[in-house]
Amino acid sequence: MTRDKRTIKFTKPIVSNKEGLQLATPEIVAEYIAKRLKTGIIADLGCGIGGQVIFFARVCRKVYAVDNDPEKLQYAKENCRLYGVDNVEFILGDALSDEVKEQVSDADIIFSDPARPLSEKERTLETLKPPITEIIRIYSDIIRDLAFHAPPQMPPERIKLDCEREYLSLNGQLNRLTLYMGSLKCCEKSAVVLPGREKLCLSGAPEIRKSSLCEYVYEPEPSVVKAELLDELAGTLAQEQKEIFFFKADERRTLLTSPTLVESHFFKDTYRAIGRTEMDMIKLKALLRSEKAKNVVLRLDIDPGKYWDMRKTLEEGLKGTRTLHVFGFGNELIVCEKL
Ligand SMILES: C[S@@+](CC[C@H](N)C(=O)[O-])C[C@H]1O[C@@H](n2cnc3c(N)ncnc32)[C@H](O)[C@@H]1O
Repeated sequence: MTRDKRTIKFTKPIVSNKEGLQLATPEIVAEYIAKRLKTGIIADLGCGIGGQVIFFARVCRKVYAVDNDPEKLQYAKENCRLYGVDNVEFILGDALSDEVKEQVSDADIIFSDPARPLSEKERTLETLKPPITEIIRIYSDIIRDLAFHAPPQMPPERIKLDCEREYLSLNGQLNRLTLYMGSLKCCEKSAVVLPGREKLCLSGAPEIRKSSLCEYVYEPEPSVVKAELLDELAGTLAQEQKEIFFFKADERRTLLTSPTLVESHFFKDTYRAIGRTEMDMIKLKALLRSEKAKNVVLRLDIDPGKYWDMRKTLEEGLKGTRTLHVFGFGNELIVCEKL
């Protein structure tokens, strides 16, 4: 048993083994999901150590907490007690069995956060545990409203379901993809930013305009990028008389730009553009020196094993005070300072 008092996932000293804690949903995410799925009776199929169950129990009348691992279910019971919730019925069993289906048949919503096999290279809905596709097959004849967590990096074409795909970022990192089916679906795709809970939905907004580099540069939140909602982001900002443009993107990074400073919860980071040069270390170093750099953060596609060598070479002899960020797109380097 691990009593993890330091974990940032929970504000109380929950009990778990290592695996259960790794798989558990952080409180702040669980609270958001629970508010979105608030209902009378909800069933959590594969509840683990109860990270999500606790927050369902706070907003729903009753929760069925199902897991086929007796140790995890025991932790879930203790954690619910720790958080002071007592409206949970714990069921030890296989979520795919007729017995469990019968026991939870009066639920309004079926939720599942399946485990991802760690060894697996290609994630699919079929190989999660319990498999999302199986839960849909088994339960959708009695319960229409289903919601699932899925691996956020899973390519969208592997999710062949009529559902809302909600990408969620927490503290600037992509944290979750949640699929909402039946009446839980509000739009095709959405992006949420926690802790603030700001949300964008696919609405068919006009395409974001492109621009050459302006004075300000923005990295959008990863949930917005992953949900491909840059048009909606630009549209939302336009309603507030704020104009932003698409500058450049590759697989790893997306940059927006604007001539005046724009603030938005959907920006992960904001920079001032300092200069640009080509992929030539001598020219880059000259630019860094003239801009009085001290530290250089590299945002380029380089072999991770060579990152610190390259950074050390660039920083050697710099006598300035500034930390500058270098974004690379092909042969082009953009030097920025984080605001
Ligand atoms: C990712 S964990 C859930 C974590 C949970 N949301 C939390 O916050 O603690 C997935 C759980 O599904 C359980 N599981 C896998 N297959 C199952 C099945 N067929 N029936 C019931 N539980 C299952 C695993 O034991 C594991 O505890």
